[in-house]
Amino acid sequence: MSSTDKVTIKKQFIEIFGAEPLLFRSPGRINIIGEHTDYNEGFVLPAAIDKAAYVAISKRADGAIHLYSRSFNESFQSSPDEMRPRSSWTDYVLGVADQLKRNRYPLQGFNLLLDGDIYIGAGLSSSAAVECCVLYALNELFGFGLSRMEIVKMAQLAEHEFAGVKCGIMDQFASVFGRANHAVRLDCRTLDYEYVPLDLNGYKIVLLNTNVKHSLAGSEYNTRRQQCEQGVAWVAEAAPGVLSLRDVTITQLDQYVKPKDELIYTRCRYVVEENQRLQNACGSLQKGDLEGLGKNMFGSHEGLSRQYEVSCKELDWLVDFVKDDPGVLGARMMGGGFGGCTINLVKERAIAPLIERAGKAYKNACGLDMEAYVVQTADGTGELDTR
Ligand code: GLA
Repeated sequence: MSSTDKVTIKKQFIEIFGAEPLLFRSPGRINIIGEHTDYNEGFVLPAAIDKAAYVAISKRADGAIHLYSRSFNESFQSSPDEMRPRSSWTDYVLGVADQLKRNRYPLQGFNLLLDGDIYIGAGLSSSAAVECCVLYALNELFGFGLSRMEIVKMAQLAEHEFAGVKCGIMDQFASVFGRANHAVRLDCRTLDYEYVPLDLNGYKIVLLNTNVKHSLAGSEYNTRRQQCEQGVAWVAEAAPGVLSLRDVTITQLDQYVKPKDELIYTRCRYVVEENQRLQNACGSLQKGDLEGLGKNMFGSHEGLSRQYEVSCKELDWLVDFVKDDPGVLGARMMGGGFGGCTINLVKERAIAPLIERAGKAYKNACGLDMEAYVVQTADGTGELDTR
């Protein structure tokens, strides 16, 4: 955020609420590989980006909660005793406040101004960024003493309970723990993590936005989750130590799931294979083998599209379009699916011509405008200096 933006936000906050705010930022994320693996106790490889949610905040003496969203130019008033979901931007703010209350943190009244520059519906986790930003801000404002990991987990629960999506932990984790120039390899079972330098050596990560909003994502997402759980339950009947797809082999799927239900088998198989692709991709990245990384990205897309069936024709079209381009080493859909962006590994010199060609061809083929964004990574959640 530029210093002019900071001044504008601060000024507007003072105009609306008549108090000096503290200012916080929490970024959106990309995910290089490892999709739909987090809620199966697998691995993910996300990075935080330079698009973020911003929160300006101050205490109120009267116990009320007064909110204002700059993006929606809308105000909303509530209080710690009457926080309910209403299918609106306020859910991501009140959802985390509600978590604090349920966990008996002494939440008092506050003024909060919300702003952000993450494209909404593009699969960059704008909702997780808002949840993490608000929770981090409330934690600082009231001195609750929550650790970063506690913030991540509480923000995830807010998404489950207020937004109704049984998401995994990746988005909130990436927003809070991101580090500039690095991806984070997270083990979603143990929550151990490792920063992996993003040395892309003449290549960049480019997002191509289908401009299809992922509206089906909520219900289909929860269905995928149940299908994976069903697969695990069938394997566990025969192999009692098995707790998640993390513990399951393809041989076990062949033996215990395939005979029962072909669809559930295919879903589970995707997850087991995606974990393997992530391991291969991390190995490639560490060796500087970007071609190896790219191959695994294409493989991931194939699985997401054909086996897990969370892609859509526009995402498939964009991945197909870049496949034979010598400047593109890898591409795949990113995030929950059904719309949003593809993530592409593109040679720097090839970026501008690719965007130009893909944009025109996409418009012709799919009738929609494509947007492109060359990713800059960034640090995770933090306070901004308002001076
Ligand atoms: C959404 C969820 C994440 C993760 C991805 C798919 O972004 O919020 O937890 O499951 O989908 O990888």
